[in-house]
Amino acid sequence: MAIIDSLKQQAFREIQGAEDLKKLEELQLKYLGRKGKLTEILRSLKNKPITERKKIGEVANKFKHELEELLNQKNKSLITTRSTPSSILDLTRPGAKVLRGHAHPLTQVEEDVRRIFSSMNFTVVEGPELESEYYNFDALNIRENHPARDMWDTFWLKEPSQKPKVKSEKFLLRTHTSPVQIRYMETHKPPFQIVVPGRVFRYEATDASHEINFYQLEGLMVGSDISLANFRFVIEEFFRHFFQDQKIQFRFRPSYFPFVEPGLEVDIRLKNKWLEVMGAGMVHSKVFEAVGYKNIQGFAFGVGIDRLAMIKYEVPDIRLFYSGDLRFIRQF
Ligand code: PHE
Repeated sequence: MAIIDSLKQQAFREIQGAEDLKKLEELQLKYLGRKGKLTEILRSLKNKPITERKKIGEVANKFKHELEELLNQKNKSLITTRSTPSSILDLTRPGAKVLRGHAHPLTQVEEDVRRIFSSMNFTVVEGPELESEYYNFDALNIRENHPARDMWDTFWLKEPSQKPKVKSEKFLLRTHTSPVQIRYMETHKPPFQIVVPGRVFRYEATDASHEINFYQLEGLMVGSDISLANFRFVIEEFFRHFFQDQKIQFRFRPSYFPFVEPGLEVDIRLKNKWLEVMGAGMVHSKVFEAVGYKNIQGFAFGVGIDRLAMIKYEVPDIRLFYSGDLRFIRQF
């Protein structure tokens, strides 16, 4: 009997002291489980005389009920303390971030750029990704023998296996957004100012700064007296807004593109570094000729949206934008 008494004391002490439900469960097994202490005692009665068995059995049974009762109570009290607000509400814990869907960084930058140019009264227009050789090259004064027409730079569409009777045009994935200049001028009269965001394609080896497809923004402003001074104002205004930095420095360097004359390249100085950001120039007379404009002038520019995003967010590799890696995307 003494053995049950001491077991009882030990069990009660341990149950009272249990800190959580897991511990309580362990104690339940320790005393009442199939290999538990009480079961052990009851089993050892097998060889005892019947009178003794009866006596100890009674005490053991009572003990068992008391244990069950106590375990039950303790269980209830653990559950209720666990759910009292004061003990579950820890105001010092960092909050869990609620993940919501959001636009891709390139979309965010494109929307930014659209907004800034719209605020300067530019109209946003779009054009087809699948283009003809005429719009992508000829009308832009890019001659037959120009290196940009090489197989290596352009994704040409397969020509039909059955040659059509009349000579048909060759098709390609546009290598820049400039063909939309032609499409727009064919159907509108100046003066106007447009920007054209869109996807472009280049058949090139990829690396940290080159992708086979990326995004550009074309700009075109045409009127009877549009000059490089207008270009300079518009573009400086744009970059100051885009980088939210009034002190950006600009550099305009002479450059060459067949569809502008003079052609130039724009550099900006950010964080003490000169970065090349866009090609531009005054629209070439051959281009105006192709759309039948006379006595007119204007400027055009082309900027890489991916490049703007890389500079703004300090992304070291253009391929990250197209990786589909959520660890990257969720940072924006
Ligand atoms: N289309 C040129 C390019 O893709 C950029 C450009 C546009 C240059 C307009 C001059 C004027 O590189």
